[in-house]
Amino acid sequence: METIIRKQMIIHPEVMDLLNNQIALEMHASASYLAMASWCDQRELVNSKAFFYKQAEEEREHAMKIFEFVNDNGGAAISPEVHSINNDFDDLRSVYETSLEQEINVTQSIFKVFKKARKEDDFVTEIFLQWFVTEQAEEEDKFRSLIDIFDLMEGMPLKMIDERLPKE
Ligand code: FEO
Repeated sequence: METIIRKQMIIHPEVMDLLNNQIALEMHASASYLAMASWCDQRELVNSKAFFYKQAEEEREHAMKIFEFVNDNGGAAISPEVHSINNDFDDLRSVYETSLEQEINVTQSIFKVFKKARKEDDFVTEIFLQWFVTEQAEEEDKFRSLIDIFDLMEGMPLKMIDERLPKE
């Protein structure tokens, strides 16, 4: 009876390692968006500043969702080291382009964990990750749309472009 009650690790060990990598990637994305928010804040780009502060919070929430999932399923979530954050950008467009590149990397990484979970019959993780697959499709679409705004407003003053960008 005791063995039935004792918390078992439901997720596959190799999938758990990939989930811990994903936690690190989401926390890196959060720190990276914080750097972008600061860059915008220093230039009084109020909409972009608010947008990136919000993005930083959202990425931390993603990391925490995975973190709690790992521990709730008998695994060991690891608090990651976050380093190599770029704080220097050429212009506002490159901030948004870097964001899109970052989101594409996150998507690819989610797919990798998803595929591994499927291969190992780790159904719990596969179902859990479905939310992230949908979320990443929306995130990539959002940043592509924002970069389209830049294309439409090319040559306009930076503050006028910022005023047309969403705060969240
Ligand atoms: Fe959580 Fe936008 O990656």
